Amino acid sequence: MTHDTALSLLAEHSRGAAWARHCHAVADSALRLGHALGAVIQPIDHDFLRSAALLHDIGRHVTHDPVGHGVEGYHVLTRLGHGREAHVCAAHVLFGLEASDAERLGLPACDFIPRTVEERLVTLVDLLVENETPTTLNRRFSSLHKRNAGNSFFLSRLDGAQERAEAFMLEISEAIGGSVEDMLATQDDSPKPCHTGPRKR
Ligand SMILES: [Fe+2]
Repeated sequence: MTHDTALSLLAEHSRGAAWARHCHAVADSALRLGHALGAVIQPIDHDFLRSAALLHDIGRHVTHDPVGHGVEGYHVLTRLGHGREAHVCAAHVLFGLEASDAERLGLPACDFIPRTVEERLVTLVDLLVENETPTTLNRRFSSLHKRNAGNSFFLSRLDGAQERAEAFMLEISEAIGGSVEDMLATQDDSPKPCHTGPRKR
């Protein structure tokens, strides 16, 4: 999918709604993190990362349900033939849905787990950007607990989601040699000292 296609799909479905600004903020932060990670670990598919980040919440044009918007996004993008981005819509919910939950939610009966680094980056950064503002995993999960009081399906899976998010964030923090949360909270993308080679004069 081209960047223009992702932008058009987001604009067409959001019609100027505030949630689209969150999608743009997630895409910007995911790209920053992707570039930092790509410099030290492995090649990143930046085009896919950006498109998936822009479209991960596209189902919000139907519902803001914390699970349902991912399911709706999956259906919309699948119908349009964008299977990779559709997978991210479903898989970013709760940092992954197992097949039994997926089937119960009206998705195909298979695991929707963010597995590639790009899929996991979108899912993590989504949690680290509340609306358009950088936050921490602790603050975000505490807010999710409060906002979804009474939603037993969501709440019973939230601790597992937090564990998966924390494990991946630790993995990335170790790779880039600094705090992911600090990096996204500032505009400082400079390499961290432990990855800086000897200075050339
Ligand atoms: Fe979402």
